[in-house]
Amino acid sequence: MSKNKSKNIPGASHRVATTGDIEISTYLEIAKEIGGEQPAAPEEAVSGAERETIVVLDFGSQYSMLIARRVRECHVYCELLPHDTPWEKIAPLNPRGIILSGGPASVYEPDAPQAPAYIYERRLPILGICYGMQVITKQLGGRVAPGTKREYGHAILHLNNIDSPLFADLPTSTPVWMSHADKIEEMPPGFSALAGTENSPFAVMGNSSGIFGLQFHPEVVHTPEGKTILRNFVYKVCGCKGNWTMGNFVSESISRIREQVNDGKVINALSGGVDSSVVATLIHRAIGDQLTCIFVNNGLLRREEAERTLNVFRLNLGMNIVYVDASDRFLDCLKGVTDPETKRKIIGKEFIAVFEEEANKIGKIDFLAQGTLYPDVIESVSSVSSASAKIKTHHNVGGLPATMRLSLLEPLRHLFKDEVRLVGLELDLPEEMVWRQPFPGPGLAIRIIGEVTEEKLEILRGADWIVMNEIKKAKMYHQLWQSFAILTDVKSVGVMGDYRTYNYLIAIRAVTSEDAMTADWARLPYDLMARISNRIVNEVPGVNRVVYDITSKPPSTIEWE
Ligand code: XMP
Repeated sequence: MSKNKSKNIPGASHRVATTGDIEISTYLEIAKEIGGEQPAAPEEAVSGAERETIVVLDFGSQYSMLIARRVRECHVYCELLPHDTPWEKIAPLNPRGIILSGGPASVYEPDAPQAPAYIYERRLPILGICYGMQVITKQLGGRVAPGTKREYGHAILHLNNIDSPLFADLPTSTPVWMSHADKIEEMPPGFSALAGTENSPFAVMGNSSGIFGLQFHPEVVHTPEGKTILRNFVYKVCGCKGNWTMGNFVSESISRIREQVNDGKVINALSGGVDSSVVATLIHRAIGDQLTCIFVNNGLLRREEAERTLNVFRLNLGMNIVYVDASDRFLDCLKGVTDPETKRKIIGKEFIAVFEEEANKIGKIDFLAQGTLYPDVIESVSSVSSASAKIKTHHNVGGLPATMRLSLLEPLRHLFKDEVRLVGLELDLPEEMVWRQPFPGPGLAIRIIGEVTEEKLEILRGADWIVMNEIKKAKMYHQLWQSFAILTDVKSVGVMGDYRTYNYLIAIRAVTSEDAMTADWARLPYDLMARISNRIVNEVPGVNRVVYDITSKPPSTIEWE
């Protein structure tokens, strides 16, 4: 996206897009680094001649990851790599085409990033999007004019050449979403204008060697036919067959895990969240009882959560589970603690301690399974390792002992979150688990403002149960990113029957979001809010008032602490 990007959304907190699972992985990864161990090098997920890949070279647009997701939605495997990735790293992926993303630079700035020469030398099909198109234009001898006026928002694309393979199944006019300042003034030799808009006569250009440029963004939802254009590029221009399905992923993954683990032993920290559940199930399918899961009940879980998780994994799936009820231990450590970050640190440290004790009892272990996902991998490519970046801002916990030297097993490290859910369905995990809203690793501790006590936990569990129950009954659970109750530190006066009460205030938070970086408060129907409020004050002792949080993120965060 030309000249219009900010990767750092103002106010976005460091607590991004983490589920309880990622939380656990983060602790462990940090612990390993502190213990002097470097996280294992990424294993090659894509090998063999069959897997076809589209490579997106990233010039820094905030939409780059979205391009990769859209391509994968077309059942073609896609990786996002820095724009200066050497060919040696790309060749093993069996690339069928290259997409150049948008980016904030201007091609004429000194040090403006260029596309590597190999993309032209290899004669692979190329699709340049926005900045990517401008790079192609400059490198192949056309002219890009520095923008004096930026074009932002909707435009109507009119096709000049309906026979272009890029335009199969497209209407002759279709809305597209523009966001650029620089503009193509003269196309490189051999290119023709395949479509234009009122302000951009060269909105789509192409040549006979399969090199195309789009001035608009096909990856965003505001370009309704964008996915068709991307699909046409990968199938009709690059000749992909479409073998990226979750069924294939599961079978390939199982063979790879078997090969990697051989007769070794694996441990996994199970939290009941989607990522750790899918990791556990996948590994269990591959190596059965060579896997042991450790499930630490930190006493900060929701009502019936531990029982349900154990039921699924121990009873239904027959996994080896070490269940540790460490509730008292966590609550003891949290006595008198009110600061949110201190709570997080204590919970993280205690988790590592319990996990380590239990792992030591198991005997020799070779692998630690983790639910690392693709967005974490991408982040860690662009800066330092994601784990060390998180240390500064997030948690600082003690390390696993140096004697516990484990290799990492990360079967989901090439998947997006929505793909992980599909793998969960493929593995027949209960829908309830697969579609679970994110729940933070520190659990209810960061939804109780002030000191965490057993009494307050019970109040919050009661209120949370009602929120969940009513939201599910209203069939809104899946539309919401998260919906939950917070126990505030406020008490207020009320009247119940003939009695004056002085009880706690519960807040309800329900938000919609794409990725937790930004969120909006959900416009819940009034009668649903009324039912939630009535039930909480009637059914949960100690609460006499309920309020609804109507702030978005930013400036607020999703969690209250
Ligand atoms: P915030 O509150 O920062 O939350 O807007 C963004 C997302 O992250 C989750 N979250 C956490 N997850 N450990 C976690 O595992 C944490 O300490 C933590 N804090 C927030 C939050 O639930 C939301 O999905």
